[in-house]
Amino acid sequence: MKRILTAVFSFAALAAAGSIPAAAPALAQEEMSEADLLKRGKRVFVLCRSCHTLESEGRHKVGPNLHGMFGSNAGSKDDFRYSDVVKGSGIVWSAETLEEWLVKPKDFLPGNKMAFAGVRKESDRKALITYLKKETLQDR
Ligand code: HEC
Repeated sequence: MKRILTAVFSFAALAAAGSIPAAAPALAQEEMSEADLLKRGKRVFVLCRSCHTLESEGRHKVGPNLHGMFGSNAGSKDDFRYSDVVKGSGIVWSAETLEEWLVKPKDFLPGNKMAFAGVRKESDRKALITYLKKETLQDR
């Protein structure tokens, strides 16, 4: 219900601003189903998979295996050599912290060694996080 109200509200705001055509795709995005988010997230993960695995006991590549990351401290895989900034960050991974990290890792934790510019589109980040949540929880 809250979501519907938000959608209606933002539509009204955009309509008031005179930009109704731009409101259409934004609305469609907000209503993307879980299945669509997962499908899209899987596609976005192509950006990460040269460096990360997601499954339980998956190997580390250039970056650490990400299994079980939600709710765990950044830098907590014992056998991966993290940078000191990640290890000492005190960050707990959640949809919110991940969202910030993925916009531009270099700005979020300066000095980290993940050579990745960031995921530019907010909708891509949202889809990716939905996908990661599912894939890093489930044992495959
Ligand atoms: C070029 C290789 C590379 C790519 C591409 C890459 N990463 Fe990383 N990632 C790393 C490295 C290296 C680290 C460790 C950073 C450090 O210790 O400073 C890391 C760390 C992380 C961490 C923290 C893990 C932990 O255990 O605390 C997350 C989360 C993460 N990456 C997610 C992603 C996602 C999601 C993508 C795709 C959008 C991605 N990375 C793309 C190399 C990469």
